[in-house]
Amino acid sequence: MKATVEAQSDCLEKVVDARSNRREFIQAMGAAGLALPMVSLFSAGCVPRGQPVTRPVATGPTFKEVSQGLDDVLHVAEGYRDQVLIRWGDPVLPGAPGWTPGGQSASAQLQQFGFNCDFIAYLPLEPGDAGNRHGLLCVNHEYTRSHMMFSGYPNGAVALEKATRQEVDTEMAAIGHTVIELEKRDGRWSVIEGKYNRRISLLETEIELAGPVRGHRRVQTHADPRGELVRGTLANCSGGITPWGTILICEENIEKFFGFGERGGPEERTHERYDVIKPPVFPFSRHHERFDLRVEPREANRFGWVVEYDPRNPTSRPVKRTALGRVLRESATVTLAPSGQVVVYSGDDRKFEYIYRFVSRDRFDPSQPDAGRDLLDDGTLYVAKCEVDGRLVWLPLVYGQGGLTEANGFSSQVDVLIEARRAADVVGATPMDRPEDIDVSPVSGRVYVMLTKNPKRSSSDVNPANSRADNHYGQILEMLPPPTDGGAVDHAAPEFRWDIFLMAGDPDVAEHGARYGAGLSREGVLSNPDNCTFDPMGRLWIATDGAESALETADGLWACDTDGEYRAVTRRFLRCPAGAELCSPHFTPDGKTLFASIQHPGASKGSSYDAPSSRWPDFREDRPPRPSVIVIEREDGGPIGA
Ligand code: FEO
Ligand code: CA
Ligand code: CA
Ligand code: CA
Repeated sequence: MKATVEAQSDCLEKVVDARSNRREFIQAMGAAGLALPMVSLFSAGCVPRGQPVTRPVATGPTFKEVSQGLDDVLHVAEGYRDQVLIRWGDPVLPGAPGWTPGGQSASAQLQQFGFNCDFIAYLPLEPGDAGNRHGLLCVNHEYTRSHMMFSGYPNGAVALEKATRQEVDTEMAAIGHTVIELEKRDGRWSVIEGKYNRRISLLETEIELAGPVRGHRRVQTHADPRGELVRGTLANCSGGITPWGTILICEENIEKFFGFGERGGPEERTHERYDVIKPPVFPFSRHHERFDLRVEPREANRFGWVVEYDPRNPTSRPVKRTALGRVLRESATVTLAPSGQVVVYSGDDRKFEYIYRFVSRDRFDPSQPDAGRDLLDDGTLYVAKCEVDGRLVWLPLVYGQGGLTEANGFSSQVDVLIEARRAADVVGATPMDRPEDIDVSPVSGRVYVMLTKNPKRSSSDVNPANSRADNHYGQILEMLPPPTDGGAVDHAAPEFRWDIFLMAGDPDVAEHGARYGAGLSREGVLSNPDNCTFDPMGRLWIATDGAESALETADGLWACDTDGEYRAVTRRFLRCPAGAELCSPHFTPDGKTLFASIQHPGASKGSSYDAPSSRWPDFREDRPPRPSVIVIEREDGGPIGA
């Protein structure tokens, strides 16, 4: 199979030529085949499928697999090298202080790389091949753990009773997002103290509420009586890149930050559905009352959204796009429908939760500068229902339709969006096995959903797309948008089809019920798919979170084809150090550099700052492990996996 790479570039040029002040940036993003805009344009029908092709794609095994196993170091396939690019505490802003193990402060942390890095986007800053060596890296920081950041904490629960104000504020400063400028010189990547470098944090950054929920009483608080301005973003898991060059940050596990939601209080029903009744996991309510829902019952309604910001404008205020609904959202993967409408796919990462799709009301117009500025404020939110006959029906979450009425406790679209989970219950969506990251194939336009696991599913509540009870291993769902007359696929169509791409687990153990393509090696066995991406050739890369407990092997990164002889034959490319998961993976446009987050290294069960299961990447007895971004390249400089 081949890809229509030159044709895609032609199409992008038409977009670029029509632009003014963003022209240079967008051109740089796309000139060498940037993943998302190219995906979007391809899927939008700019490049009909079946057009003459210019370079080979996905060809089965191309690298010697890394063995299964579990130790305290990082292993990458033979012929490849890894470089640690930036670690927790390393300077981000010009003049930032260096990391002080055991002595971190909030003021220092606000200028440094945050904790537990997750989603990564690479945006070239120069056109052509130079864009593969000079760009912006935009990185999420999902959460903190007191017991991995400070000495003397045996586990997270204790922090709620003893964390100091300085420790809490340091953690809140370490959550959010980082933008750094990067350059590759003399064969090594390094961080530049550039004008784009930025930290977005839970502690300090002001974020606008936009869309239907802005200003509503259900998002008004003592600190923000107008319901328009939120302090910070949290649980920043995966994300997305828009065709207009902005970044989407998702707010995922919000229920761990808020707690003590009251029965009988004004938001009782919502607090129950979003599981913010219990004491929080994080100690922030100890020093910041807004995380205690007995004091500020509506504060939790201001989180769980998609945050959009412009990495080219470091002083711009990020915006929460409420039209996309409020869920514990893993990802926001953007593509375009043939109509030009913007389509965003998301999973709500909890057992029995749902897959969502947002379709913008208006079209993306690449001829208009800043064309996408507010496109995500108006549109329709849908939730997926996987039918027995293989149809995937997108059910609209629109006030007044499908039972979303006063009779069921919805008085406006604001209620539908704030309580998107309950709205999805009412319309009859399919409860899934923890939907995580989602990506769109740049070759076929098919959509891949990582379903990580669901040990709570019993044999009485299995469904065709989630067919295993007591599911410890997860599966990958394939969503197939219908083809259009022009040969593209229609991501805005009311119905898709669905299929199971693979069932994870060990195929040699019958009880696992695992299923892969024919010819899988022992190294190819994986469990708990979480993050994913496509390389420019259309090969799917799958990162896992949970293999250490499910299969007693380290988490890591696997690659496979999605078509042909080697479809769903996964091959292990990387093994994480103990305790870690690999998040984000993201390629440069030429596919020669792979960025990835190594999240929570050394944090195996029972580990702590003082006794971690790995001290990666510094390996010093006086230092804890540090979540870090790595860069992987082929030793001969060729495309990764080719
Ligand atoms: Fe943040 Fe679902 O992983
Ligand atoms: Ca994840
Ligand atoms: Ca992804
Ligand atoms: Ca995860």
